[in-house]
Amino acid sequence: MTIQRYQDTFIQQNFAERIGGANYGKDTNIYKFEKIKRAKAAAKQAQPHVELIDMGVGEPDEMADAGIVAKLAEEAAKPENRGYADNGIAELKRAAADYLRQVFGVHDIDPDTEVLHSIGTKPALAMLPSCFINPGDVTIMTVPGYPVMGTHTKYLGGEVYNIPLTKEQQFLPDLERIPKDICRRAKLLYLNYPNNPTGAAATVEFFEKAIAWAKQHEVIIVHDAPYAALTFDGAKPFSFLSVPGARDVGVELHSLSKSYNMTGWRIGFIAGNPLIVKAFGDVKDNNDSGQFIAIQKAAAYGLSHPEITEAIANKYSRRHDMLVSALNEAGFRAEKPKGSFFLYVEAPNAIKNGPKFATGEDFSQYLIREKLISTVPWDDAGKFIRFSVTFEADGEADERRVIAELKRRLTDVEYIF
Ligand SMILES: Cc1ncc(COP(=O)(O)O)c(C=O)c1O
Repeated sequence: MTIQRYQDTFIQQNFAERIGGANYGKDTNIYKFEKIKRAKAAAKQAQPHVELIDMGVGEPDEMADAGIVAKLAEEAAKPENRGYADNGIAELKRAAADYLRQVFGVHDIDPDTEVLHSIGTKPALAMLPSCFINPGDVTIMTVPGYPVMGTHTKYLGGEVYNIPLTKEQQFLPDLERIPKDICRRAKLLYLNYPNNPTGAAATVEFFEKAIAWAKQHEVIIVHDAPYAALTFDGAKPFSFLSVPGARDVGVELHSLSKSYNMTGWRIGFIAGNPLIVKAFGDVKDNNDSGQFIAIQKAAAYGLSHPEITEAIANKYSRRHDMLVSALNEAGFRAEKPKGSFFLYVEAPNAIKNGPKFATGEDFSQYLIREKLISTVPWDDAGKFIRFSVTFEADGEADERRVIAELKRRLTDVEYIF
């Protein structure tokens, strides 16, 4: 049966406006990640013997720690762990509260009322608007960024107001520039540090300002923190919840996807304001029945072993050092981030005596086509490409080989900015 066969039936007519209504699926625009996929396939076909260096991957290149995997195996075998987990087990809540204290210095989180597990951060971001957004309400999002909370705000008839993250502002949003009407109608503000894709870190001063702004305008802050524990060069893991007043205005979302190499396991948690956590629990209870208890127990084990994350952060730090110096030697202006596995680099305007690039996407496509190097472009605020140090390499010697090869491919032309 083909999809086309059903496009003339009532099924096509019944689609909701939020996904395109009767026109759902007929949009011929090709979106960013599909364009990257197609360009990679074409480049591989054109040069089958050249290794494609994939710097565009947004998830870890390694599997979870052996201790976590062993804990899962042990717990998965126990009959008492087989059933619905509903809003989660106490063991994970306690481990999350201890983790926040031990790693981030956030004290006094009450595991009973201020923590709930989530099946990863993405569904939590998808559900939070259901707690707050009525038609016409506004969610403030930062761009470039992870759009899920904005998408669901729109699904509910709300509006999204985007604030650009620019290099000039250290990729921190300028909240004072938000129009008064938006401040009045806004209910949610999305922040994410260390930031995807810019790699920028927040400062205490910025969070203090954001908390004061949120109190003044009565807006809830959702801080999305999946990279918060992946810091290096002396930068300590930093939680929004460690800033005085944060718990009066918001919540923080943590995920084991990146900090524990557990993307496919689907486990994270929300922590902070108990009334927001309670409402999230009620909405969540109507969306899912909780993550498999064995996975929750394995996650609790992981959270009580923060040295696992430290080892992962050390690897990313080493790879960032190599990548940053290779890019700078090739003529880019790369700066090592304080956290995350992302390296956000300005795209050039042109190559001397060569092609011009109007957008980051143009440059990214050029890199795939001509150099077999894959990155992710971002054109929301300036033109940038995002490298990720989660590229595939088998050990440190292989990492050096990959980076040397990348440098070799990038240095045979001159970039004009
Ligand atoms: C900023 C940000 N938030 C949330 C997520 C989703 O994380 P999870 O795997 O916990 O759903 C990602 C994943 O790429 C992300 O970059």
